[in-house]
Amino acid sequence: MKVQVIYHSLSGCTEKLARGIFERLDCEDKSLHDLSQGEPELDGDVLLLGYWVDRAGPCQPMRELMERVEGNHVGIFCTLAFWCDAAHGAASLHNGAECVKARNTVIGGIVCNGHMSQKMLESFRSMKAGPHSANPASEARWELLKDHPSDCEISLAAERFNERLTLLRTLNAQGVAFPSIEI
Ligand SMILES: Cc1cc2nc3c(=O)[nH]c(=O)nc-3n(C[C@H](O)[C@H](O)[C@H](O)COP(=O)(O)O)c2cc1C
Repeated sequence: MKVQVIYHSLSGCTEKLARGIFERLDCEDKSLHDLSQGEPELDGDVLLLGYWVDRAGPCQPMRELMERVEGNHVGIFCTLAFWCDAAHGAASLHNGAECVKARNTVIGGIVCNGHMSQKMLESFRSMKAGPHSANPASEARWELLKDHPSDCEISLAAERFNERLTLLRTLNAQGVAFPSIEI
């Protein structure tokens, strides 16, 4: 079974997560692709697609790829700069799944915390008012999340996808279709 891990990352969080997942995948036939270097030939049995969250959904380059992917088993991962356990985090993963679920089998997903890029921090700190302007609570959150995704998050993501690959192999051997997961 061939697994392709494909990601897009601006400031390194999603790349860190993608590399960590890739390194920990219990799978001999696997490859890692940075979408900003061009789109790979999609010849995997499983695609693990990773994006940074842009307004509660996949960043544009990954969204465009997701909307074209067809007939695959797809796993989804993403990083965002807000709490990953907030409704906004769940929505950001859900909106990625929405892009692929009609034409593919969704084998799972995970949303992880990332850091806020220096450029975004500077922009928010320069705002005088508004929902994104810096305040003590957002400053404290940015400080707390500055090294995310953490090793624990990366391990959890790898565990999740390894388990789903095991399930897929088991079901394939029995001739049973993987029941797509509603995310
Ligand atoms: C244009 C833009 C839009 C963003 N929108 C969101 C958002 O809706 N919610 C959020 O929590 N973070 C948002 N972020 C922050 C990134 O998703 C977050 O920092 C992510 O971990 C960056 O990943 P990367 O380092 O792989 O680029 C946004 C960042 C940019 C540049």
